[in-house]
Amino acid sequence: MEIHNLFLKNWVQEMESLCTPKNVYWCDGSQEEYNRLCEDMVEAGTFIRLNEEKRPNCFLARSHPSDVARVEDRTFICTSNQEDVGPTNNWFDIDPMKEKLGNLFKGCMAGRTMYVIPFSMGPLNSPISHIGVQISDSPYVVVNQRIMTRMGKEVLNILGDKNNFIKCMHSVGMPLINNQKDISWPCAPNPEDKYIVHFPEERTIWSYGSGYGGNALLGKKCFALRIASKMANEEGWLAEHMLILGLEDPNGQTTYVGAAFPSACGKTNLAMMMPPEGFEGWKVKTVGDDIAWIKPDKDGKFRAINPEAGFFGVAPGTSYSTNPNAMEMLKNNCIFTNVALTDDGDVWWEGMDGDPPSHAIDWQGNEWTPNSDKKAAHPNARFTVPSSQCPSLDEDWENPEGVSIEAFIFGGRLSKTFPLVYESFNWDHGIFMASTMGSEATAAAINQASIRRDPFAMLPFCGYNMAQHWRHWLDLGHKYHKSSPKIFRVNWFRKDSEGNFLWPGFGENMRILKWIIDRVKGKVSAKSNSFGLVPNFEDIIWSGLEFDNEKFSSLIEIPKTEGLKEIDEVKEHFDRFGDFIPSELELQITQLEERLNNEI
Ligand code: GTP
Ligand code: SPV
Ligand code: MN
Repeated sequence: MEIHNLFLKNWVQEMESLCTPKNVYWCDGSQEEYNRLCEDMVEAGTFIRLNEEKRPNCFLARSHPSDVARVEDRTFICTSNQEDVGPTNNWFDIDPMKEKLGNLFKGCMAGRTMYVIPFSMGPLNSPISHIGVQISDSPYVVVNQRIMTRMGKEVLNILGDKNNFIKCMHSVGMPLINNQKDISWPCAPNPEDKYIVHFPEERTIWSYGSGYGGNALLGKKCFALRIASKMANEEGWLAEHMLILGLEDPNGQTTYVGAAFPSACGKTNLAMMMPPEGFEGWKVKTVGDDIAWIKPDKDGKFRAINPEAGFFGVAPGTSYSTNPNAMEMLKNNCIFTNVALTDDGDVWWEGMDGDPPSHAIDWQGNEWTPNSDKKAAHPNARFTVPSSQCPSLDEDWENPEGVSIEAFIFGGRLSKTFPLVYESFNWDHGIFMASTMGSEATAAAINQASIRRDPFAMLPFCGYNMAQHWRHWLDLGHKYHKSSPKIFRVNWFRKDSEGNFLWPGFGENMRILKWIIDRVKGKVSAKSNSFGLVPNFEDIIWSGLEFDNEKFSSLIEIPKTEGLKEIDEVKEHFDRFGDFIPSELELQITQLEERLNNEI
C-alpha cells in the first residue's frame, strides 16, 4: 500500500525504530485480510474455529487468566496540571510517564509484526466522526478493530495529508527475544506492568501489557470516551457512555433516547430490546449499545451518532429470553472471547437458554461439567459482532447527521433505595441526578469497590475533571434550553429481602420506556415526590404482566430516612471535588433537603 501522508509515515517510522518489530504491515481493512489473519491465528493457537455448520465463520479466543477486563487502577491520564483530571482519575505527570513509556516500548515488538490500523470512529462521511490510527502488535486487535470500527484504506483516503488523527499506540508487552516461542495470548501478566495511558493535551494514547477489550481496542474507551470527552468539552459537544435507541410507535413515528448505564448494567440489552406482550406494533430500533457522540445542531437539537461499527457485548446472561436479537446476530461472523467450548464445536455461557452441556471446555481450556465449582465462561466473556448483523438495527444508524435525541436516561445497578423510574424537575436537577448516580460492582472492571458513585456512568471514562464535565452539561442545557432533552433516572435492579429482583426487567423495560416517551411528548402527567416526577400507575401499560399498584408503589417510593441518608452521601461525594462543584448542583442538594424535610 502506498502511503502519502507524511505525518503518518513519520510517526510509524518513529514507532518502528522504538519498538523494533520484525516487520510492519499496513492494514487495508479487506475481508481477505480479515480471513487471512484469522486463519493465521488459528494456526498460532490464538483462535479456535467453531463448528462451520453451527457458527459459520466464528472464532473463539481464550485470554490469559490475568487479562480478562479493563484495568482501572492501571489507567492513567497525564496532564500539565493535576487538577485537570480531578479526584476520580489516576493522574501522572507527563514527562516521567513519557520516560516510563519510552523504556517499556523500547524493543517491545521484537519478533512480532507491527500492524498499522487506520480507523474512523463514526460513519466515514459524518461531520461528527474522527479518525484514529492504532499501531498494535496483536492480530487479535486488528480483526476486532475491523468489526468495531470502519477500518482500512478508505480511512486513509479521507485523512488525506492531514495531521488530525489520534495516535493510538498499543503493545501486548511480550517481545519475542532470541527466537522465543509465542503463546496463544501474549500479554504482560504482572498487573503492575500494564499501562493504559492518555495524554489529552496532545490527544495521544499509549497502551501496554494487555490485549483485552477496552485496554487494547483503543478506539473504544481510550479514544471515543476519554480523549473524545476532553475534545467535546473544548468544542461544545458530548462523548458519553450511552446506548442510543429509537422507539417506533404503531404509527411509524420514532423517538430517540440516549441511555447511560455503567459497564455490564444492561446497555446492550436495552439497545436491542424486544417489546413484550401488550406492545404490538411497537419497535425498538438500535443505533448503538455503548458509546454516543452527541453534537447540538444549528437548531439546537442534540444529534447523536454511534462512533462504533460493532458490538463488544457481555456474553453471560445473553439468551433468547433476555435478548433474542443478540442471539440472532451471534449466529455467524463473530469472535467470542473467554466463553466455553462445547463438544460439538459451539459456544456456551452461563445463562444461555436450555440445559447446560453435560461437558465442555471452560474459558481457561480446562475440562468442565455442570458439577464443576467454576464458571464455564468468564463473567466478563464477550462477543465481537458487526452492528450490521443486528436484526433491530435502525435504518438511520449510519446517518452522518446523527439522530435527534429527545430524552436522556441514566441508570445504575442498585439493589436498594433507588426507584424504578423518575423524571427530573428541570435540566439542572437532571444533571444532579446523573452526577450522583451510584452503582454496584460488576465483572467488567477489576478492583472496584462494591458500591460506588458512577456519575453519568463515566467514572472510568471521563478524560478530564468530572466536576467540569457536569459544568459542561449544565452549560449545554442552558445554551440550548429550548431544545434540550428531558432527563430520567431508572433502576431495573431493586431486590427484595431475599435477593430476588423486584422488577422483571429486560423486555418488560419497554413499559417504562413507553412512559418516558409519553412524558417527552407531553401525553401523560406525573406525580411529584421529593426525588422527582414519578408515573401514575394507570399511565403505564400493564397488559401481559401481572403487576399491582402496591408492588409498583414500593418500587417508586424512597423512604424519608433513606432519602436523608442519600443526602449525606451525596455531600461526601461532592466534597471530593472541592471548588469545582457547580453552584447549581450545590443548590440542588439544599432543595432536595428542603423537600424531604417538608415531607410528612
Ligand atoms: P458494557 O458493554 O460493559 O458497557 O455493558 P452493558 O451495559 O452493555 O452491559 P450488558 O447489557 O451486556 O449487561 C449485562 C448484564 O446486565 C447482565 O448481567 C444482565 O443480566 C443484566 N441486565 C440487563 N438488563 C437487565 C434488566 O432489565 N434487569 C436485570 N435484573 N438485569 C439486567
Ligand atoms: C465496558 O467495560 O464498559 C465495556 C467493555 O464496554 S470494554 O470495552 O472492555 O471496556
Ligand atoms: Mn461500556
